[in-house]
Amino acid sequence: MAKYNLKINNKSFTVEADPQTPLLWVIRDEVGLTGTKYGCGIAQCGACTVHLNGSAVRSCSLPVSAVAEQNITTIEGLSNDNSHPVQKAWLEVQTPQCGYCQSGQIMSAAALLKNNPKPTDEQIDEAMAGNICRCGTYHRIRKAIHVASNEMTNGSK
Ligand code: FES
Ligand code: FES
Repeated sequence: MAKYNLKINNKSFTVEADPQTPLLWVIRDEVGLTGTKYGCGIAQCGACTVHLNGSAVRSCSLPVSAVAEQNITTIEGLSNDNSHPVQKAWLEVQTPQCGYCQSGQIMSAAALLKNNPKPTDEQIDEAMAGNICRCGTYHRIRKAIHVASNEMTNGSK
């Protein structure tokens, strides 16, 4: 066991964990932020997606020892009041079905739009390919990303 200082959603947390413990379990079990989900545990489904220094990463496959002192953002930290354009677009389009994959989808979409505010359908599909949805909400995900993109680039929907 070792101590790690983590910066999650602009707050500092000190946790004690085995160096190989996946960040996902530290976020959920030690810090208590359960919006980030476990799907596969092998970086294949995207349910556990968080931001590390602004980029989308799979927290199930990142050891806690690799992320200390870096900026981690979870779905709970994307905005204080669900006002991030991606969150608003998800609501407008009523994107989720069961919802299980959706925090990972939103985190991947937010990272995509930060780097590419006006993505094409192809670019969306490429960026979101690692996020699996068992309910098949891909069409609505793509639509919501365009809605968020419009708000971010035009200031309107
Ligand atoms: S739980 Fe991390 S990618 Fe599936
Ligand atoms: S909404 Fe059910 S798995 Fe995606």
